[in-house]
Amino acid sequence: MIKPINATMPGKSGTDAYISPMLDIDGVSVHSLAERFGTPLFVVSEKQLRRNIRMAKRAFSTRLPKVVFAWSYKTNYLDAVCRAFHQEGSWAEVVSGFEYDKALSNGVPGDHIVFNGPSKNREDLEKALKNSSLIHIDNLDELYMLVELAGELQCRPQVAVRVNLNAGTLPVWDRFGFNLENGQALDAVSKIMSFGCMDLRGLHCHIGTFILSSKAYGIAAQKLADFACDIRRLFGVAVEYIDMGGGFASKNTLKASYLVGADICPSMDDYAEEIADAFHKAPFGKGEFPALLLETGRALVDDAGFLIASVLTNKRSAQGGRYTVMDAGVNLLFTSFWYNHKISPAQLYSQHFENTTLYGPLCMNIDVVREQVSLPLLNKGDLLVVHNVGAYNMTQWMQFITLRPNIVMIEENGGTKLIREAEKFDDVTRLERL
Ligand SMILES: Cc1ncc(COP(=O)(O)O)c(C=O)c1O
Repeated sequence: MIKPINATMPGKSGTDAYISPMLDIDGVSVHSLAERFGTPLFVVSEKQLRRNIRMAKRAFSTRLPKVVFAWSYKTNYLDAVCRAFHQEGSWAEVVSGFEYDKALSNGVPGDHIVFNGPSKNREDLEKALKNSSLIHIDNLDELYMLVELAGELQCRPQVAVRVNLNAGTLPVWDRFGFNLENGQALDAVSKIMSFGCMDLRGLHCHIGTFILSSKAYGIAAQKLADFACDIRRLFGVAVEYIDMGGGFASKNTLKASYLVGADICPSMDDYAEEIADAFHKAPFGKGEFPALLLETGRALVDDAGFLIASVLTNKRSAQGGRYTVMDAGVNLLFTSFWYNHKISPAQLYSQHFENTTLYGPLCMNIDVVREQVSLPLLNKGDLLVVHNVGAYNMTQWMQFITLRPNIVMIEENGGTKLIREAEKFDDVTRLERL
């Protein structure tokens, strides 16, 4: 395929500095949102969320007979976001007892909850067993605990083995699950078979996150498919599904990247083509073609999230460079540690641009949202929109120095709803004991 690269070519003075102002989000004025809900303010576009999951489903289900998306709760577990994905048919993928309870409270049936994670405790596992959830085993202690619980609760755990493998990307994530290449994964499967008290329903792997190579998924899918065929041959069990985890890149720009993220990020079709191709080439038995499960997180939600912030002040560095301070910092934008988030002013401006260091409001030197960004002149009170913040910010944010802000959703029908209230003094102090 030939793909257009939309980034402007650098000239002798660097890349084109022009950026367009962002006056509205899905037709709702940024200034009116800030007036109504204050700043900083997270805004989630329901339209974009749904567009993303529908496109992703189309890319995979046109290539494979059975595809299930399980929404990765840790990526964004706001109920409004999770429920939109569940309404689109997504199951839930959780990694803790807390996330498990959230999925249940969002009405997800137990057998549509995929329970991953390296730290499931006895209580979590009991709950998952009682609800017939799919438990993805991370380590042998968990496997033995399941054997014990199967006896105590008189049930058959429905399990998958989490596998780690070398898909050609670095670093190889070998911390979670059982290694395929050195035989740990086969050892785990044979233990499951010899205990005989569980049903091995699937295989799982999550090769990493923000994987810019779609080819890596082809390699991982082929290795898992071959492993599934080995299990069938050795133990007579055909796994029902292969879960390829998450990790597809979003359109954000990594700090180390030369080209903008939107230009180098593979499309859903690229990822789907690689995985489907590997599945179709595998020698699965007749009627035994496994379902594909996906736990895609950031690629489905990142570009549906925006953060509106107000300029607090402009100042000059000791060398004369421009510093702009806004009211949202790394406390709300955890991802600004590794992304150069796109920033748009939310009002019209003159053509004078200047390289600026964009700071957050914290009394902490590392509170830098962009080390260098070309911005027009901005006055105190002007608004900025930070793009692609839908993944891992509304879950990894910190209550540090200031309180967490409001989150609104712009609904598909154009309405605006507050989906999480800003924290108040009491929300934080309520838990303290003197
Ligand atoms: C097991 C598992 N599945 C899915 C995801 C979602 O990953 P991503 O947001 O990169 O798609 C993660 C995130 O790290 C994960 O650990």
